[in-house]
Amino acid sequence: MRVSCTVNGAPAVADDVWEGESLLFVLRERLGLPGSKNACEQGECGSCTVYLDGAIVCACLVAAGQAQGRDVRTVEGIASAGALGAVQCGFCTPGLIVAADDLLRRVPRPADPEIREALAGNLCRCTGYEKILDAVRLAAARRAGLGAAHSGEPGEPGRSRDADGPGSMRRPGG
Ligand code: FES
Ligand code: FES
Repeated sequence: MRVSCTVNGAPAVADDVWEGESLLFVLRERLGLPGSKNACEQGECGSCTVYLDGAIVCACLVAAGQAQGRDVRTVEGIASAGALGAVQCGFCTPGLIVAADDLLRRVPRPADPEIREALAGNLCRCTGYEKILDAVRLAAARRAGLGAAHSGEPGEPGRSRDADGPGSMRRPGG
């Protein structure tokens, strides 16, 4: 089947999409947008996070056909993507950027618990999350025109609800 939608503000068409194909596969393999990562393909890790009509979803859980006629925005479409330099392997980064962007659009100056809540669906197995928290605080401060900021106590967003890691935080599939 053919899937037509808007991706990062431009019309996009994918042909020969099979019924079970995910939006993530279409973005990466058919539309040449590898920014969204495929780590678990089960809605657990958040590395595939994209906007679908303005709401963040796990693209691995969205059937490509569900994107028909809708607006998709990936990490490639977020202008401030370079703001987060808080990684080691970087696999989690695209999803974290999208989730943080969504948070800062809704809550320009989030408190630490709000940051943890917003990023709780995004797993990082490398950093321990502290640098990620710092990056979101810094991005919030920069967007507010205040320069660097570092407030609140340290924490681990992905583990604040579930000390065992993945499983408790599910992002909608669309
Ligand atoms: S690839 Fe892990 S949530 Fe989609
Ligand atoms: S930097 Fe490796 S998973 Fe986050």
